[in-house]
Amino acid sequence: MSSQDIPEENLPEEQEHAHGAVGVADEKNPFADPGLPPHEHRVQDIDERAAKRSERAVAFLFTLSMLATVGFIASYVTIPHDRAIYVFPVGHVNALNFALGLTLGVALFTIGAGAVHWARTLMSDVEVADERHPIEAPPEVRQQVHADFKLGAKESALGRRKLIRNTMLGALTLVPLSGLVLLRDLGPLPGTKLRHTLWAKGKLLVNMNTNEPLRPADVAVGSLTFAKPEGLEEHDEEFQTEIAKAALMIVRIQPDNIKDKRELEWSHEGIVAYSKICTHVGCPISLYEQQTHHVLCPCHQSTFDLADGARVIFGPAGHALPQLRIGVNDAGYLEALGDFDEPVGPAFWERG
Ligand code: FES
Repeated sequence: MSSQDIPEENLPEEQEHAHGAVGVADEKNPFADPGLPPHEHRVQDIDERAAKRSERAVAFLFTLSMLATVGFIASYVTIPHDRAIYVFPVGHVNALNFALGLTLGVALFTIGAGAVHWARTLMSDVEVADERHPIEAPPEVRQQVHADFKLGAKESALGRRKLIRNTMLGALTLVPLSGLVLLRDLGPLPGTKLRHTLWAKGKLLVNMNTNEPLRPADVAVGSLTFAKPEGLEEHDEEFQTEIAKAALMIVRIQPDNIKDKRELEWSHEGIVAYSKICTHVGCPISLYEQQTHHVLCPCHQSTFDLADGARVIFGPAGHALPQLRIGVNDAGYLEALGDFDEPVGPAFWERG
């Protein structure tokens, strides 16, 4: 509709610098005629019923977005992850992936479409010319920006068109829930699982190779023995998970050569037991130097001194290997006197 066809009283008030309104050259508008076509009013500017129709259309799109987000969550909860459906022309696809993609796509698209339709039909139709200026804005420009922002907020009619505002806020609030729901795929929280192993007071130390409980006489000076807690068998369902935390290496050192006082107290006749899991990124430690009592992780060469509290003497590991306090039971077998006093393996955020 051209502005010539509209009765004068129906036309919205012309604003300064409106599209096509530049006619006189001055300091602000150096070109009297910048070549802009005459401004044409939109039907929504002159017909309140058309404006209402646009408002309802925008609200419909935002509402559709809310429904799609609800559909996304419902799909995630109700559709089995292994169900397939036939979708023309793609063929057979995973039903859950299809539903999640479709609903999230609709939720995001309708927010965008609603915003664009709102801007094109109901927000202010005034075009303004702005001169280039230095990047640093002087105070008066900042004031002007502030005033323009307030004007823009007023012209967007957020306060007046409550239906749009409320549905838009609803859509924008709900759509991030899709991301929150997906966090569930990260699995159950670990709880205290990272802090504890199968070791407990009274658990016998069992040789990993022979599957026999160890006696002090089985551990010779200069040898490296690997052990696991009694009761943990290789055919157990949880074997890999549990042995990854409980694997132990045992060496015998002359008590006089043990430099760390606590290590000596936690040992039995020079037999010391340490976690076999490297504190860098968790490789199993397997190389032992008899003369120096150093153990070496084959992954990134972290080296620990077993005669000195297993402190790190080389490599990227961040802290010493956890020691297991051991003793001998009445039957003469080596036993644990408790669990490790700290989590084994690499550092994690709650290690403290
Ligand atoms: Fe042992 Fe990296 S895992 S040094």
